[in-house]
Amino acid sequence: MAERMPPHGARDLRAVRDETVTRLAAAGVPDPEVDAELLIGHVLALSRGGVQAQLVMGAMLSEADAAALESLVVRRAAREPLQHLTGRAAFRSLDLAVGPGVFVPRPETEQVVQFAIDALHATVEPEPIAVDLGSGSGAIALAMATEVPQAQVWAVENSPEAFPWTRRNVDEVGAQNLELVFGDLAIALSELDGRAAVVISNPPYVPTGEVPRDAEVHLYDPEAALYGGADGLDVIRVISRRAAELLHPGGVLVLEHAETQSAAIAALLAADGWRAIAHHRDFTMRDRATTALR
Ligand SMILES: C[S@@+](CC[C@H](N)C(=O)[O-])C[C@H]1O[C@@H](n2cnc3c(N)ncnc32)[C@H](O)[C@@H]1O
Repeated sequence: MAERMPPHGARDLRAVRDETVTRLAAAGVPDPEVDAELLIGHVLALSRGGVQAQLVMGAMLSEADAAALESLVVRRAAREPLQHLTGRAAFRSLDLAVGPGVFVPRPETEQVVQFAIDALHATVEPEPIAVDLGSGSGAIALAMATEVPQAQVWAVENSPEAFPWTRRNVDEVGAQNLELVFGDLAIALSELDGRAAVVISNPPYVPTGEVPRDAEVHLYDPEAALYGGADGLDVIRVISRRAAELLHPGGVLVLEHAETQSAAIAALLAADGWRAIAHHRDFTMRDRATTALR
């Protein structure tokens, strides 16, 4: 039987994949294999596993799909974030919409939000109130709302560029137990004072003079999401005071921060009267979260 010829202009998928990995690696992309396969998956509407299955089967890539991939590879090689190219970011069980104007949620925050979820599960309150200060894509608030359905979750964001993304994700997920507020975390939600069980924030905490090395971060994450003043702690100082007003006695504060900031954060929280201040390490053994009791 005659072998079927590939359509005109089609290319061997494995050759395209390998070439893409080489180009992304040369551009300094940190995980070129992952990004190459996810970009191919985006073009073909396949998961990464689906792409790998196609590779094993010796699949071809059509001329049109190869052209679509090429424009994405050029942009990724210029260090545009993968999540801006696909328009989506995975966060715990969520698939969030992201793009210019909003902070791309990070894997380390997936670990930090667990402290809030555990505290919400542990409380005897039937409908504990949880507050996410500086919600960005809504990642933290939506994780709490979906994983602790009895919680009443409030999310606050003050960036006009980020807020439409928060709104979109809240609407897409359709969480009925989440209220979204456009406002400054320093003063928002006064109606909840003394009632919250958990306040969590992944605030801007990069010192102004320390521009992050990765181009994806310093070129594409919003400045309002990154920088927290000369020592990076300006917003955390505000949150310490505001969370003390929001939480009821025994309520839990959860903060994400840089690995170098634990001691300074412990000192400022202690000065504000917080109890049981504890730091927590991420999978790479760096202190990246602090919890405290009101
Ligand atoms: C590091 S991002 C975190 C976003 C999201 N919570 C996450 O973990 O992916 C910090 C967010 O706080 C917001 N933000 C900064 N200052 C704020 C303020 N004063 N009031 C409300 N939101 C603020 C920024 O716009 C940004 O969306």
